[in-house]
Amino acid sequence: MSDRIYIFDTTLRDGEQSPGCSMNIDEKIRVAHSLSALGVDIIEAGFPIASPGDFEAVHRIASEVHGPIIAGLARAAEGDIRRAAEAVKPAAERARIHTFIATSPIHMEAKLRMSPEQVLERAVDAVKLARSLAPEVEFSAEDAGRSDMEFLCRVVEATIAAGARIINIPDTVGYMTPVEFGGRIRELIERVPNSDQAIFSVHCHNDLGLAVANSVAAIENGARQVECTINGLGERAGNAALEEIVMILRTRSDRYDLHAAVDTTKIVPTSKLVSQITGMPIQANKAIVGANAFAHESGIHQDGVLKHQKTYEIMTPESVGLNKNRMVLGKHSGRAALKARYLYLGRELDAEQLVEVFNKFKILADKKKDIFDEDLLALLHGDGTIEDLRIKLAALHITSGMAETPVAAVEIEIEGVLHKAEAEGDGPVDASFKAIQSLVEPNGTLLLYAVNAITAGTDAQGEVTVRLQDGDRIVNGQGSDTDIVVASAKALVAALNKLPNMHARAVHAQYSGV
Ligand code: KIV
Ligand code: ZN
Repeated sequence: MSDRIYIFDTTLRDGEQSPGCSMNIDEKIRVAHSLSALGVDIIEAGFPIASPGDFEAVHRIASEVHGPIIAGLARAAEGDIRRAAEAVKPAAERARIHTFIATSPIHMEAKLRMSPEQVLERAVDAVKLARSLAPEVEFSAEDAGRSDMEFLCRVVEATIAAGARIINIPDTVGYMTPVEFGGRIRELIERVPNSDQAIFSVHCHNDLGLAVANSVAAIENGARQVECTINGLGERAGNAALEEIVMILRTRSDRYDLHAAVDTTKIVPTSKLVSQITGMPIQANKAIVGANAFAHESGIHQDGVLKHQKTYEIMTPESVGLNKNRMVLGKHSGRAALKARYLYLGRELDAEQLVEVFNKFKILADKKKDIFDEDLLALLHGDGTIEDLRIKLAALHITSGMAETPVAAVEIEIEGVLHKAEAEGDGPVDASFKAIQSLVEPNGTLLLYAVNAITAGTDAQGEVTVRLQDGDRIVNGQGSDTDIVVASAKALVAALNKLPNMHARAVHAQYSGV
C-alpha cells in the first residue's frame, strides 16, 4: 500500500457551505492560489450547477490555478455532471469530476425516494458519464457512515467497475466513532473485489468533534485520500481540519510512515487568509492555528520551554509558519520588504497596488511601532481585497462621552458621488451604523458584530467582522483600524459592498456637520 496521503481540500465547496462563509469569485481565486502554494493535491473548487457564480469560480480556478487537481462537485445527474465537466475543463489532465449519491436507508427513502437498486443504477450511470467527460472521476456514497455495509460494498464495486478511480466514504452527519469508522474502511477494502483499482478516500464531519480522529482512523485502515478544510470550516460543526491532519502525520511520523506533500510552513498564512476572507474567527485554543496554540502561560511551562523547547512543545511554531510569520516590519521598512512579506502571505501585488498599500503602511507605521502580518492583511481593503469598491468610507466623525448621546457624521462615496448623513445611537458604533445604513439600500439586517484585537497592545489593530442578511443572501465584511469605531464602520461598508444591487438611497438624512 502506498505511503502517500493525498490531501483533498474542500474549503471552497464544503467550507463555503458554512453559514455566512460565502466568498465572492475573487476571494475564491485568492484562496485557491494559497491552497496551491500550500501544496494540497486536490482543490474542490465548488459545485458548478449550484449557480452561475459557482460555475464561474470553478472555471476560473481551473484556468488560473496551476499545480493541484481541480475538482467540481456534481450530483449523480446528467445536468450536474455536464456542468461540472465544462467548469473543470480548463484544468485539462488535472480535471476531476466528483459525483455523489446517498446510499443510507434514511437518505434513499426520505430524501431521494429511490430504491437501493435505483440508486445503484444511478451511481453507475453517473460515473460512466463523468468518465466520458473528464480524465478522473471520484465517486462519493453520501452518508456512507450510516449505510448498510452489504449495499455499500455493492455500490463501491460497481462504481469502480464503471471507472471511478477514487472512492470517497463520507461520514456526512459526523455520526461515526474512530474504531467503527476505521473498521468500515478496512472492511470495504478487504471485501470489495476490485478495491485495488481505486484510492479510498474519507470525508468526515465534526458533529461529535470526531472528524479528525475518524479521518486518522481511516488512514490507519488504508484510506489514502483525506477530504478536509482549512480551519475545519464546513457544514454545521465543520469538516476535518486540514492543518490538524497534516500535522498529526508529520509530528507522529514515528507511528505513521506516511507523507503528504503539504508545505507545513504555509499553514498559518493560509489559515489567516481563509479566516479573514470568510469572517470566521479562529478560536484561540484551536489546535495548530489558534492564537494560543504555541503560547506558554504558566511559569512552570515557560521555565521548561526555556530550558528545552521539547519539554512542552511537540512541534515547533516555525514548522507551521508561525515564527517566521512574526517578522515585524516598522516605519523604516521599505517597499521591497513589504512586497516580499505580502508574497509570503500569498498576495502578489502589482506595482500600482504596492504603491497604494505602501502609503497606507507608512501611515499605520507612524501610529504603531510594530507591524505584524495581521496588520498587513488588514491594510488591504476591509474585505481583504484591494480592488475598487462601489462604496467607500470617506470620513467619520464621532461625538461621544459619558452622559452624552453619541452622534456620528459620515461621508460615503457611492460610485464616485459623495453622500453625507448623521445619526444618533446607543453607542458610537450604533450611531455610525445608523448613519451609514441610512444612505444605502438594501442595507441588510445585522446578524453578527464581532471585535477581535488582531495584534497585541493598546495600539493594536482591531478587526471587526460584520455579517449582514438581505433576503436569503448573507455577506461578511471585515474592517481593521487602530480605532475600533472606524474599524466597525469599515467592516459595515465592506459587507454592504457585497450586497448585489446595493445603491444610494434616493432620499436620505441631510448632513448638517457635527
Ligand atoms: O458530507 C458529504 O457527504 C459531502 C459529499 C458531497 C461528499 O459533502
Ligand atoms: Zn461534506
